Amino acid sequence: MTDRPALSVRNLSVSYDTPEGRLRALRGVSFDVQKGEIAGLVGESGCGKSTLMQTILGLLGGAAAIESGEIWLGDTDLLTLNRRQMRRLLGDRLSAVFQDPMKSLNPVLTIGRQMTDIQFRRKASRADKRARAIEMLDKVQIPDPAKRLDQYPHEFSGGMRQRVAIAMALMAEPDLLIADEPTTALDATLEIRTIELLRELQEEIGCAVLFITHHLGVVAELCDRINIMYAGELVEHGGTRAIFDAPQHPYTELLFACDPAQIKERSRALPTIPGTVPGLIDVPPGCVFAPRCPKRFAPCDSLHPRPVASGGSDLVLCHLRDPKVPA
Ligand SMILES: Nc1ncnc2c1ncn2[C@@H]1O[C@H](COP(=O)(O)OP(=O)(O)OP(=O)(O)O)[C@@H](O)[C@H]1O
Ligand SMILES: [Mg+2]
Repeated sequence: MTDRPALSVRNLSVSYDTPEGRLRALRGVSFDVQKGEIAGLVGESGCGKSTLMQTILGLLGGAAAIESGEIWLGDTDLLTLNRRQMRRLLGDRLSAVFQDPMKSLNPVLTIGRQMTDIQFRRKASRADKRARAIEMLDKVQIPDPAKRLDQYPHEFSGGMRQRVAIAMALMAEPDLLIADEPTTALDATLEIRTIELLRELQEEIGCAVLFITHHLGVVAELCDRINIMYAGELVEHGGTRAIFDAPQHPYTELLFACDPAQIKERSRALPTIPGTVPGLIDVPPGCVFAPRCPKRFAPCDSLHPRPVASGGSDLVLCHLRDPKVPA
């Protein structure tokens, strides 16, 4: 055992080959998720969250290319593994929950069959594996779990399916669970309950979690640390409390100001961040957020900011926070 983080992403750049040219979806992304920690990953649509997840899971399509970087799961450099080695790791040391639970479940097999199959590495009898499956269904509060085991995914509600998917992902007791918007399709009550369940199971198993979401309230509730992405770059990361108390990047500040949960009930229109995410085929040379930034100043249009620590944040990509850049 070493003290390496559960996940360490180093200088990761990924692009997609498109008819318009090379789309640079991730550029120089570095962050860690420590063992036993829940880390949030937030950012507007199109900022590269799913690309990052697919890269870690080895599920990028043919149009994508990893241009540089390393992804370490503990002591294992994932980008050096072949397909077979990667497949063996999935569902064992690394597992995933997707927005659509049917991506994790097989529609033609009963839930029970899937939940026993996933225990293929355990040396236990069929009856033991079945008992473990019942125990897990019970933990994620599926009523009458023994009977439910013989049913197919379509016989479950969407919320139940997602809870089954979470149970299955955690059954393997992975080192790292990656969840991409697992609660977005659920109603508010069920979302809260599912988050609570996820946290309970995570504490019991002690795995690390990378939790991808648009929902800042969920991050505040669930995550120890938070990573903010914008247009393919990691622009801020640090402890959740520190960043919520005093965001250091103007983008983080605006993201929080536009969070529907922060808005007073009487205001009519939801505020949004003016402007749009830039195209990622011709990425501007300076700060990628500069065109939308209310605090933009001289160096922002031409000079790319370097990562610095600032306030309670471990990393901020903003000239305003860099003591070497004159105001
Ligand atoms: N298969 C693909 N081919 C070409 N471009 C892609 C492909 N997948 C994603 N992209 C582009 O890469 C960028 C990042 O997309 P990604 O899906 O990772 O964003 P996201 O943060 O997950 O967004 P959302 O919140 O909407 O799920 C976007 O500009 C997107 O258009
Ligand atoms: Mg996505």
